Amino acid sequence: MLAMLPAACKQPPAPVPPTLAEIGERIFLNETFDGNGRTCGTCHRPEDNFGLTPAFIATLPPDDPLFVAETIPALERNFENPRLMREFALIVENQDGFEDLENDFNLRGIPHTLALRTSIDSRDGPRTGWSGDGSPGDGSLRSFAVGAVIQHFPLTTNRIPGVDFRLPTDDELDALEAFQLSLGRQQELSLPLALSGTVARRGQEIFLDNGLGKCNACHLNAGANGNPAIFGAGAGNLNFDTGVEDLPDQPARLTGEKVPDDDGFGVPGNGEFNTPTLVEAADTGPFFHDNSVETVEGAVAFYNGDAFTNSPAGQLLIGATGSAINLDATQVVEVAAFLRVINALENIRASIELIDSATATASDERRLTLLERAWNETGDAAQVLAGGGLHPDAVISLETALALLDAARTQRKAHRGARQANAARTALEQARAELIEN
Ligand code: HEC
Ligand code: HEC
Repeated sequence: MLAMLPAACKQPPAPVPPTLAEIGERIFLNETFDGNGRTCGTCHRPEDNFGLTPAFIATLPPDDPLFVAETIPALERNFENPRLMREFALIVENQDGFEDLENDFNLRGIPHTLALRTSIDSRDGPRTGWSGDGSPGDGSLRSFAVGAVIQHFPLTTNRIPGVDFRLPTDDELDALEAFQLSLGRQQELSLPLALSGTVARRGQEIFLDNGLGKCNACHLNAGANGNPAIFGAGAGNLNFDTGVEDLPDQPARLTGEKVPDDDGFGVPGNGEFNTPTLVEAADTGPFFHDNSVETVEGAVAFYNGDAFTNSPAGQLLIGATGSAINLDATQVVEVAAFLRVINALENIRASIELIDSATATASDERRLTLLERAWNETGDAAQVLAGGGLHPDAVISLETALALLDAARTQRKAHRGARQANAARTALEQARAELIEN
């Protein structure tokens, strides 16, 4: 009898082997490399857009591994500045080497690791980190992970491999790279978009106007790459000295804590920083490499000020276009509204993709993780619009989606959860339809 049964009935289905990106995700979120207890996910939090903000830090318990400088005596000095970490989410980085820990360090914000697929390559090689020089070695995403372990994971500031941490293996580096490249947007936008909102639509025009906003010169299609019409074909992800370091009254410096000048790219540095993507910006402030500007409106207004106008990049722009960037208050808010709307659209896209993956997975645990991420993205979309007083109708649809996702992820019966997730997807599509015509 048995011989007549189809083969599939005799054996349980073979488990699907994890993809390289899934292996990388486990390493990213769980692997401590025998160090102080931190993982990559300690700072690049899935719930906080794979970055970390002061608001999120305020929710963490005192024994969170982020705070090793407060809990491990050997890391008390010259490892982090706990005050600046808690107040401004600033992390100590020794880009120019570990020889003089007391004086030679930078304080930098934690960037998200989204859309890396679109934002690293340049004609001069890969550009990772705020200053684009990676660490150590060739600046690739793969070697960046090695630098991160040495910088952030050690048990003592001696940083001896095999004693204070272990280095990632080649296989681990491959998996980490695959995971990070899988995060977020995989393609550039193609501007202009058919936006419905009057204010955001005008913001987009200003952004694209080479005589007015001039943003598209460096942030082509609101991404991280230089406009080939200006910087030549294959320019890719460029570095500029835009003068952020020259801003007066920087929040971290107002505290009186030691905040050395950050010299950017190279050793010694040339003052240049790497152009970040803007699609992912509005919900990942504070802004710039030193988290010096809290709001997206403030980040747009930066380009009107003396720090930018007098910077090498500002002077380059004046040389090329005959004038500085000089936006009035209405225009600043319009450009920021544009950045808010494209960020909300990206959050909606990501939420829908996460819901679809959640619906497709056979694992209950995985489904909950994906629905939770969709919930976070949807919440960001609502906040980023509401924070700019934009599209109240879309915000209502997003709040409906949020409630449904919340029900779906706490639902113990899978089929009911699936129905709620599907209804959330419909509400997300409705929100999208409020923002853009298609
Ligand atoms: C203690 C916090 C912390 C930990 C832990 C941490 N990072 Fe980071 N990460 C940062 C900071 C700060 C920067 C900015 C560094 C710079 O400008 O060079 C950064 C930058 C990055 C970037 C550059 C992103 C871009 O847009 O160019 C990548 C990639 C990255 N980290 C990956 C990792 C990986 C992989 C790990 C784990 C091996 C890790 N990080 C662990 C704080 C952290
Ligand atoms: C000359 C090239 C250049 C031009 C023009 C330019 N940017 Fe930037 N932008 C950069 C660089 C480089 C950085 C990173 C600076 C830093 O962190 O020190 C940046 C950072 C930003 C950030 C912060 C992103 C984040 O995640 O922290 C925002 C927002 C931004 N730019 C918006 C704009 C807008 C809006 C315009 C037009 C009004 C514009 N940029 C014009 C090069 C440019």
